[in-house]
Amino acid sequence: MKTLLQIQASLFSDHGQSSRLAREFVAAWRDGKPDNRVIVRDLAADPVPHLTAERFQAFLAKSEDRTPEQRAVADYSQGLIDELRNADVVVIGLPMYNFGVPSTLKAYFDHIARAGLTFSYTANGPEGLLKGKKAYVFAARGGLYAGTPRDTETAYVRDFLGFLGIEDVEFVYAEGLAMGDERKSAALEAAGHAIRSIAERQLEPLAAAA
Ligand SMILES: Cc1cc2nc3c(=O)[nH]c(=O)nc-3n(C[C@H](O)[C@H](O)[C@H](O)COP(=O)(O)O)c2cc1C
Repeated sequence: MKTLLQIQASLFSDHGQSSRLAREFVAAWRDGKPDNRVIVRDLAADPVPHLTAERFQAFLAKSEDRTPEQRAVADYSQGLIDELRNADVVVIGLPMYNFGVPSTLKAYFDHIARAGLTFSYTANGPEGLLKGKKAYVFAARGGLYAGTPRDTETAYVRDFLGFLGIEDVEFVYAEGLAMGDERKSAALEAAGHAIRSIAERQLEPLAAAA
């Protein structure tokens, strides 16, 4: 049995284009494997608070010194980390809003980057502590950015996940969604095609082993 954590960052929850693409992938991933478990973390329905000095201080305090309020903050962050740690596969539905990642996703990232829990600093530099996972990112954008310096999301998300030790990250893009119906349909069709080919690739090792 494998566990997949589906993080959706669309303002529109299940109705966002990035959420739809992620869902299509998750359905293909689960197809024929009813034991596989899917956990959905919807950052619009259940937003993570912004990181504040008080919240960060709660992370830094020793567990025996934490006030009840600090304990609640640290436990909340620990819960998010445990959920991620227990996942074999991580799927992110990633809209672009105002030239960057949704602030809800940034707030989530700010609560899972914890020294000693998800990364540590060694003599050789930072080391991610969440190794051995595969991540898929489904990026939806109104305009066209992929492969250009104006794509602020791809390097950022890849770097952040890599910092935590999640280095195997694959992106699927649906771009030009605000550039007319024809372009939108073509982009969604191409993304669907990419999703199906990833799903087929996943099934190949199973077929070979049979
Ligand atoms: C508040 C807001 C800001 C947006 N900003 C951008 C932007 O900077 N660049 C872009 O290409 N598209 C932008 N868009 C379009 C979205 O990227 C597009 O609608 C995409 O489908 C969003 O993903 P979602 O449907 O999963 O929410 C914006 C949309 C909204 C609602």
